Amino acid sequence: MPHLSCDNRAKAEAIVACYPQRRSALIPLCHLAQAQDGWLTPAAMEEIAELVGCTPAEVRGTASFYDMLHTEPVGRHVVTVCTNIACMLAGAYEVLDHAAAALGISVGETTADGEFTLEEAECLAGCDNAPCVQVNHRFFGPLDPDGFDALAEDLRSGRLADKVPAHGILSRVDRSVGLPGKAARSGTGARAAGSAAGQGSGSAAGPETGAGPE
Ligand code: FES
Repeated sequence: MPHLSCDNRAKAEAIVACYPQRRSALIPLCHLAQAQDGWLTPAAMEEIAELVGCTPAEVRGTASFYDMLHTEPVGRHVVTVCTNIACMLAGAYEVLDHAAAALGISVGETTADGEFTLEEAECLAGCDNAPCVQVNHRFFGPLDPDGFDALAEDLRSGRLADKVPAHGILSRVDRSVGLPGKAARSGTGARAAGSAAGQGSGSAAGPETGAGPE
């Protein structure tokens, strides 16, 4: 029985059809499944393996290499604090240590209520807003400990729900992959109209920086 929803299964098949090699769709399908569930469940990885023609272990092996993909459950908000050089010099460790203490968890852990997972990252490409923090891949910064507390409270209360969607959703804009599917390439059918579910970039801005996916 498919783990992906009917809609996502159709999107997955359309994405696979975009590539000469089915395996090339592996990472886009991981993002699709993560957008559905918030993380990559074993059932999702099995279905992705079936779709791209590899083993579930190969899906896990690939997904576990990338920081943006999670093969274990995470909180509703994945908070990622950059501690690379620009952020470190601007006080990133102060923010990270404060975040850990305020949330009552260590880096890599999730709060008991499932609200927050705390991560540490190397350069998030938001150096101009150091110290930079991402929440579900939306950028915030520069942040100090007080700013972190305000951000956490806004997230917990849902005040940022329109800015920060559930973890795994990279883009709320459902758009065409933009590449012809197999049928179109062979001249026998219509253009594949799948969605890359998270392949976009654009306008949804974190309130602090104005930068972020979507
Ligand atoms: S060093 Fe932190 S975002 Fe680049």
